[in-house]
Amino acid sequence: MLIKTLLSLTALTLTLTSCTKKQEAENSAGTTAAESSEILVGEYGSMTGGEATFGISTHQGIMLAFKEVNSSPEKLKGKTLKLLSLDDQGKPEEAATAVTKLITQDKVMAIIGEVASSRSLAAAPISQQYKVPMISPSSTNPKVTEVGDFIFRVCFIDPFQGTVMAKFAAENLKVKKVAIMRDVKSDYSVGLANYFKETFTKMGGSIVSEQTYVSNDIDFKAQLTSIKTSKPDAIFIPGYYTEVGLIARQARGLGLKVPLLGGDGWDSSKLFEIGKDSIVGSYFSNHYTTDTTDPRAKDFIAAFKKEFNAVPDGLAALGYDAAKVLIDAMKRSKSLTSSTDLRDAIASTKDFAGVTGMITVNEQRNATKSAVVVKVAGDNNTFVTTINP
Ligand code: PHE
Repeated sequence: MLIKTLLSLTALTLTLTSCTKKQEAENSAGTTAAESSEILVGEYGSMTGGEATFGISTHQGIMLAFKEVNSSPEKLKGKTLKLLSLDDQGKPEEAATAVTKLITQDKVMAIIGEVASSRSLAAAPISQQYKVPMISPSSTNPKVTEVGDFIFRVCFIDPFQGTVMAKFAAENLKVKKVAIMRDVKSDYSVGLANYFKETFTKMGGSIVSEQTYVSNDIDFKAQLTSIKTSKPDAIFIPGYYTEVGLIARQARGLGLKVPLLGGDGWDSSKLFEIGKDSIVGSYFSNHYTTDTTDPRAKDFIAAFKKEFNAVPDGLAALGYDAAKVLIDAMKRSKSLTSSTDLRDAIASTKDFAGVTGMITVNEQRNATKSAVVVKVAGDNNTFVTTINP
């Protein structure tokens, strides 16, 4: 027991030291939740490590939504929303530690996170156990919300995303033979590869090579050499941007010129920084595009640019929407003292107009939404098509 406590304290020190100064200041709020004029919400994410843009973008999206409600005249039923953010460094065990701390020590009323499905899966059982509602902005593996009735998400799930890319490959690109390269340590990558394969083969296509890697690998030449001999028309790589950028460069280096296809895990300004020209012309599915005509999304993009001097990616948009859905539920909740009331309010979210689309929380606590396919065009992506559920 003591050892356990010491371990978690060490982990806590690590996570806190890796927070930015700004976050520390925001985190210094008192923790007397009940009578306080503040409502505490926890966030856990990869603020550092190979998936740092996921955590940082999401955090910015959430901050913008919180700022908007806090500066409105009525605030949140007269209270101020306070965000406590912890860095899990992109590690599932740190995600579990962070959520335990947010719930048992800080006594947050709800939790926003994580982006990566494996980290949401590591932390969701803790939220469920303590009955603290958790909303994942962007974890797409089906298992995440299956953990229990306190776990929600505001995005589509991978059986749909896999179908989107399989259809796009077969119908738009008209490719017949695809090689797959999946990250076996990532629930997201393994699941999405399977869903893609299922639909693509049903549509008459064939999978000519299946290769694996694990997050943080840097040399993919053996797998790519094997893929090359299978002569694919395209390669599906449902991974995260750091590895995908490296895979793209090494593929081109080996003379593999076919299009690379991926999912939302490619969404980062770092993808082009790492992959350079090797990634240009490849396609991935995503939750949102900045090539939008939707006035709400346009307002969000403008407000985000003003606040952070950057164009919001899909993570930022989903972080914003997750926070907005939570705020809307808090406003509708019968009370702000019972987590079951808040849970019920989130569960009854219907036709909420988000910047990533209309959000209705369904029976499985997921959102049914359209996906877009974008083409990597350099340090920006161009919209190709929208695919509806
Ligand atoms: N959907 C990914 C997962 O479940 C995470 C992700 C979402 C990454 C959106 C980038 C953009 O792991």
